Amino acid sequence: MMGLWITFEGIGGSGKSTQADFLYEYFKKQSMNVVLTKEPGGTVIGGLLRNILVINLDVKPESLSELFLFEADRHETFKKIVEPNIKEGIITISDRGIDGSIAYQGFGRGLDINMISTLTNLATDNKKPDITILIDIEPEIAEKRIALRDNKTMDKFDLEKVDFQSRVRDGFLYTAEKDPNRVKIVDGTKDVQSLHKDIIQIIDSQIK
Ligand code: TMP
Repeated sequence: MMGLWITFEGIGGSGKSTQADFLYEYFKKQSMNVVLTKEPGGTVIGGLLRNILVINLDVKPESLSELFLFEADRHETFKKIVEPNIKEGIITISDRGIDGSIAYQGFGRGLDINMISTLTNLATDNKKPDITILIDIEPEIAEKRIALRDNKTMDKFDLEKVDFQSRVRDGFLYTAEKDPNRVKIVDGTKDVQSLHKDIIQIIDSQIK
């Protein structure tokens, strides 16, 4: 059996990481072979890149450099985690996946969407996740959630204004519209448990 590749997408504060964790635990409870990773930062090189791209607020790459580094992280994740897992029949759940660059570097920063698509395809050998869960939420609600968090978990992109987050959200919705078979939109305002149930239902129906 080939392994499944499942990604979670959404703006900061959408609840993606919580839902990725819940899904991981759900599969584990069923004794499924499953791995949880993230973009950026799921690999050794990715961890170094995450520091430059997300954590260190004083480092500000040019938009194109930023894109190249996200694509480098993506390629590392694909080659070192996703591709081997697919071959071994292991499920990979990724907290963010291939769609972040169109949303953030394209719609957010204004880089050309076709150029980003070409680079992302190169990074993943033209492969796409089997299922992408897009947790959609209004940026104003997400911003309030982030404000309640401990400051240590604030990253470079969380500090961007609501109009940036709004463009990023449009970017994710654009991808969902272009690829409706893969990208499934769920309501990020729902409580954690209801959302988890919705996600399980989607995964079950997609697998069948
Ligand atoms: P997070 O994993 O804690 O959500 O942080 C990752 C940040 O990186 C997030 O704010 C969105 C941003 N990002 C991009 O700008 N482009 C990308 O391609 C990806 C995967 C993430």
